[in-house]
Amino acid sequence: MKNKIEQIRDEFFKQLALAKNSETLRELELKYLSRKGELSEVMHGLKDLSMELKKEVGELANTVKGEMQTKFDEMSKNLENYGKKSEFIDVSLPGEKFANGHLNPMTLAQNELEDLFTSLGFMIGDGPELESDYYNFTALNIPPYHPARDMQDTFYIDSKNKEGQRDLLMRTQTSPVQIRMMQKYGAPLKVVIPGRCFRCEATDARHEHTFYQLEGIMVGKDINFANLKSILELVGKKLFGPSTELRMRPKFYPFVEPGNNGEYTCFLCKGKGCRVCKHTGWLEIVGAGLIHPDVLRAGGLDPEVYSGFAFGFGLNRLAMLKYNITDVRLFNSGDIKFLEQF
Ligand code: PHE
Repeated sequence: MKNKIEQIRDEFFKQLALAKNSETLRELELKYLSRKGELSEVMHGLKDLSMELKKEVGELANTVKGEMQTKFDEMSKNLENYGKKSEFIDVSLPGEKFANGHLNPMTLAQNELEDLFTSLGFMIGDGPELESDYYNFTALNIPPYHPARDMQDTFYIDSKNKEGQRDLLMRTQTSPVQIRMMQKYGAPLKVVIPGRCFRCEATDARHEHTFYQLEGIMVGKDINFANLKSILELVGKKLFGPSTELRMRPKFYPFVEPGNNGEYTCFLCKGKGCRVCKHTGWLEIVGAGLIHPDVLRAGGLDPEVYSGFAFGFGLNRLAMLKYNITDVRLFNSGDIKFLEQF
């Protein structure tokens, strides 16, 4: 009898494993597990056994019945889920859309300039936002107590160097990276450096404590003002269209000599005068000049052998002009309604 029970179980498992639909399952349940099933039939014969055997065989029959039931339930659940998964799929339905983010307009302006400058053979450099007083000012010809420091007040870090001076600050411009690049790569060198800058400003629609610049330098033998001008002209035409003109007016920056302001004809009124260019016909876009000999020296280069030019774009201003943005504070506001427009 024990053999018979085990035989029933093995046969049941074998057939169960082959079952592919709920119909076969139902048949198996009837044949093996129901009150008139094979197992029950064997159990009917228990009454003819001795007390001792009745107990032994009865126990086995119960365990086997339990095993069979568990396996059966498992199988029917699997089949049920399988049925759900294979439901009809309409492949012509449009797929689920990914929620794409938006590039910040500043990033867009930066990408555009990076593309242009890499196509001209410039590499892209990077420097620290937490900068030393030396690189941000002194090496750029702005020694302590120089009045040019006043225009670039910033956030100083509360730490002191070996000499007991406060020497770490949030960089006010990307110009310190000029020096770092010269020290690292020497000459000849063509590199642009986009990056975040900081100033301690009373903020308004045109001033923000955190903003972006794109610096550029070209250093080599016989680099002159005409080279600077031709590059800036190219940039202007790329940014504002082929009829854009450049004019350069003197401006003082301690780290260039001569220093000047690059202005482009207003893209909106084409030089006639309008609200955007404050009725001058020109837009002030870029600070530039020939690199001061002291700055070349700080970068480890001999000014008797090498010369170069440097320029710095305000990326916020560029993006504001390009996308007609009226308040610089929007860039860092995290305002989704603003960002989703780009
Ligand atoms: N660093 C200057 C500024 O922040 C811009 C500049 C860069 C001017 C390079 C000349 C040359 O205003």
